[in-house]
Amino acid sequence: MKTATTPEPTLGRAEIERIIANQAAKLDAAALRKTYYAQDEFLILDNFLPSEIMAQWDAQLPALRPHLHRSFIPKHKKGGSVAYDTVRELAPAMNAVYQSPALLGLLKHITDAEMQECPDSDLHRCALYAYTEEGDHIGWHYDTSYYKDRRWTLLVGFQDNSSARLVCKLHTKNPGHKPEELSLQVSPGTLVLFNGDKVYHAVTPTKANEERFMVSMQYVTSGEMNPFMRFVSNMKDSIAYFGLKQVFLGGKKSP
Ligand SMILES: [Fe+2]
Repeated sequence: MKTATTPEPTLGRAEIERIIANQAAKLDAAALRKTYYAQDEFLILDNFLPSEIMAQWDAQLPALRPHLHRSFIPKHKKGGSVAYDTVRELAPAMNAVYQSPALLGLLKHITDAEMQECPDSDLHRCALYAYTEEGDHIGWHYDTSYYKDRRWTLLVGFQDNSSARLVCKLHTKNPGHKPEELSLQVSPGTLVLFNGDKVYHAVTPTKANEERFMVSMQYVTSGEMNPFMRFVSNMKDSIAYFGLKQVFLGGKKSP
């Protein structure tokens, strides 16, 4: 008989893959591609990851919380993040989604591009972002690609009891098309896919006693980056996200 101390059944990588493949099979990728390009490389897939996967993420979040690295850049960003190596180690259900062949197959159909995972060295690869203190936010920015080709962001809605919103401006670099602005509350399991160089976006500030968690997954077509851009990218990550020790010394286990 199940008691309060009985752990919830754990979904292994194979079960997560089966669930994602099943979800992907329900979608019309060709129609989604049309929408994605009509929105200047931006697409929302509502409630793609079902509650059984999100329950696993919920169960793995407490292990990540002590590893949140908080950063504050006046007028641009305040919040916490956990880099890929820690997510891989402590939240395997998040990493299983990131590395799902069925998910990548769907994304490739939608973008019509040979997307692949970011290189191992990219700490944003599959990272947790946390807005857990009053005023946590991130200002308007592009997810600029420092790689030799395009970089995609796949945001996955996770726990969120906040009034913060993901705000996006589409068509900002599309001459002749009026920019469109969206304000989104991304529900758990909903995916937001976009080309990082095209979609200008921000997260509005949380209020007191609110918490918002989001998982960001990154994909590229080429893992190549020239050495100067590698340096620029590392400096940005150390200041804005994960800290000098994490970025330049290759990982830590302390909070
Ligand atoms: Fe971003």
